Amino acid sequence: MSASTTTEVIHITDVAPRDGLQNQQVRTDTAFKLKLIQMLAEAGVGSVEIGAFVSPKAVPQMADTAEVVKSINDLLPDVRTSVLVPNLKGLELARNAGAREIAVVLSATETMNRKNINMSLQQALEASVATLQAASAGGMRTRAYVAVAFDCPFEGETPTDTVVALARQMKEAGAQEVVIADTIGSASPGMVKERLKALAQAVPLAELAVHFHDTRGMGAANAWAALEAGVRRFDASVGGIGGCPFAPGAAGNLATEDLVLMAERSGFRTGIQLDKLLSAIDVAEAALQRPLGGRSIAWLRRQRERTPA
Ligand code: HMG
Ligand code: MG
Repeated sequence: MSASTTTEVIHITDVAPRDGLQNQQVRTDTAFKLKLIQMLAEAGVGSVEIGAFVSPKAVPQMADTAEVVKSINDLLPDVRTSVLVPNLKGLELARNAGAREIAVVLSATETMNRKNINMSLQQALEASVATLQAASAGGMRTRAYVAVAFDCPFEGETPTDTVVALARQMKEAGAQEVVIADTIGSASPGMVKERLKALAQAVPLAELAVHFHDTRGMGAANAWAALEAGVRRFDASVGGIGGCPFAPGAAGNLATEDLVLMAERSGFRTGIQLDKLLSAIDVAEAALQRPLGGRSIAWLRRQRERTPA
């Protein structure tokens, strides 16, 4: 069936509270994070990445993740939330805080792992496998990012075979979702099509997710290529905020509002209400003190002005 004639559901994980806030100039407090996560849940976002258990020296913006997890478990016990953890230490902290789902982060090149988590590719692979296995044994849900899955800011184009081999190892280690990440937003729809075709041989499409950054304005086109390839799990970030602090040139993520607009206008159901996403963007703009929003933000706001609630 063509993607344009379907009424299927797609699943969106909003990563703004983690990917979006980890690299902001303006430091936001825990109260703002809780408000943002609540507004995303109210908008109908089914899954939210709410923080990271990483070194507070490396990423001070994530230092309050334990507090965020504990509060959100009380405030939103039924919303699916996850946290990024790079190693067993992070898993221990996540478990102590009451996290129910974790995501490990494995980059597909030697240099990116060293810059991001101070490990070689082999060490990062071993840490990811050990963390996934321990998390699964403890009854947690698990995701595994394969970062720089298209291009690496340090090593250039990443070989497809490497990405496929690492994705397979993440699946074999128990990852319930393998997230193919375009860290610096350099992919194009043709590359997405080609890589997903190869990846589908290693990981069932239903267990693959994609995570696009929008550096070159191709996030939505890439998401469409993934939809046509059969992927139904997407990461996106409300307002388009995001970027890895250790990947030079990484810009914001594909905006959740752009993905929702594109998917809903094409017959897919996301369960997400755009007017409520806009309210979340308003709140985030005030906190971050700068204009936010994806490619569709000006049009979406004009629509809101014409049809006030
Ligand atoms: P390290 O310095 O090599 O670690 O950092 P270490 O094992 O030598 O430990 C150093 C200190 O950190 C020790 O504390 C550890 O206990 C502590 P000390 O004895 O000095 O007081 N430590 C931790 N603390 C909190 N949480 C932990 C943890 N582990 C050790 N998990 C480490 C290694 C991985 C910790 C560090 O390099 C780090 O935190 N890096 C940050 C990585 C990060 O957050 N990157 C951004 C997210 S990834 C991303 O954005 C990409 C993604 O969006 C997908 C895409 O777009 O491609 C996911
Ligand atoms: Mg990212």
